[in-house]
Amino acid sequence: MISHSPEETYQFGVNLASRITQGDVIALCGELGAGKTLLARGICRGLGYKDNVTSPSYMRINTYPHTFPIYHADFYLIRSDDEIMELGFAELFNTESIVIIEWAQRFPHLLPESCLWIDIKWHEGRAEMREIAINRK
Ligand SMILES: Nc1ncnc2c1ncn2[C@@H]1O[C@H](COP(=O)(O)OP(=O)(O)OP(=O)(O)O)[C@@H](O)[C@H]1O
Ligand SMILES: [Mg+2]
Repeated sequence: MISHSPEETYQFGVNLASRITQGDVIALCGELGAGKTLLARGICRGLGYKDNVTSPSYMRINTYPHTFPIYHADFYLIRSDDEIMELGFAELFNTESIVIIEWAQRFPHLLPESCLWIDIKWHEGRAEMREIAINRK
């Protein structure tokens, strides 16, 4: 889809949440400032989570306690496979939780096969337009 504004990207996330169930892993790909955190915020809101959703760049993983756990992670500052394993990622991928990962393209080999991959790109170089594509691998 084409998003014309930050609000549309957020709303796309809210709508997408109705198609997400426990156990799903959402891999968000896109350059700096593409809109990954904003989309994650929309997804969490759509899942019924009402508190703040912030960028996990520095924390690596934000945990949002909800009726089920929502993990919001960011691979941007992670340097190695080992670091991901040490953070306990393997345990996040379970049948109860929803996991949203920004910069997922940096370590695709560590993600489950059934990930929902979402790409966000600038559309025709326009400041406020994005192309958002979903691929169920
Ligand atoms: N159509 C759009 N969709 C999403 N964001 C947009 C759009 N147009 C402009 N923006 C702006 O782009 C920025 C996106 O920021 P956001 O933190 O979501 O990006 P990010 O992909 O998470 O970046 P980072 O790689 O640093 O984590 C916001 O400032 C937002 O207002
Ligand atoms: Mg971000």
